[in-house]
Amino acid sequence: MLELNIRLIGNDEAIPYDLLLSADPSEQALMAYLPYSTIYVAYLQDKLVAQYVLYQIDAQELEIKNIAVDDAYQGKGIGKLLLEDATLRANDAGYKTLSIGTSNASIGQLYLYQQQGFELSGVKMNFFIDNYTEPIFENGIQCKHMIMLTKVL
Ligand code: ACO
Ligand code: ACO
Repeated sequence: MLELNIRLIGNDEAIPYDLLLSADPSEQALMAYLPYSTIYVAYLQDKLVAQYVLYQIDAQELEIKNIAVDDAYQGKGIGKLLLEDATLRANDAGYKTLSIGTSNASIGQLYLYQQQGFELSGVKMNFFIDNYTEPIFENGIQCKHMIMLTKVL
């Protein structure tokens, strides 16, 4: 079992931009939601290995805007633990739903999120074409649309 310590980022702690940009390559998009979001960081002993970002949609709903695990630590169950942690925090804070969005080409993420109880709740058509200056590809497929998934708490 991983001894992962997941906690709110400290006021004086550096924002982990490398991790944030690995999940969302648009600095402009990041800068738009980060000031209104809360960052949680995950440490294995003294090593920062992952982070996720929570954003309040309204009094009922929170969204995981960004989630990323350091390349060297992927595939070890950390992503799963982050999603469980976000679910617990959202539940404890009294929210009714927790949502997350990923691209049509993000096959592994779609697998993981559904495995963790998030269900398809909508599609933002052409989201990545309209909001990103450069085309993005994953698994050889162009990221065009944002697939929204929601978990009822
Ligand atoms: N392809 C296939 N399967 C995957 C992938 C993938 N890319 N990622 C995770 N999985 C599967 C694992 O095989 C595992 O399955 P199992 O339980 O059946 O064995 C399950 O999902 C859990 O995997 P974890 O090890 O918990 O996932 P990990 O720690 O690697 O974290 C994450 C997943 C966050 C997507 C990580 O790969 C990452 O940081 N990727 C780069 C950034 C990114 O794409 N972030 C998400 C963008 S969307 C957003 O930010 C809202
Ligand atoms: N998971 C992951 N990748 C897959 C899968 C799968 N289940 N099926 C195909 N692929 C990938 C292959 O890896 C390959 O990728 P690559 O070109 O990057 O190497 C690519 O897709 C093409 O694969 P093929 O070998 O041409 O696919 P196959 O001959 O296996 O046919 C099919 C795919 C029709 C889905 C077959 O697996 C099948 O009959 N499955 C059972 C019935 C089924 O699910 N049918 C579809 C239901 S939806 C419908 O009928 C409209």
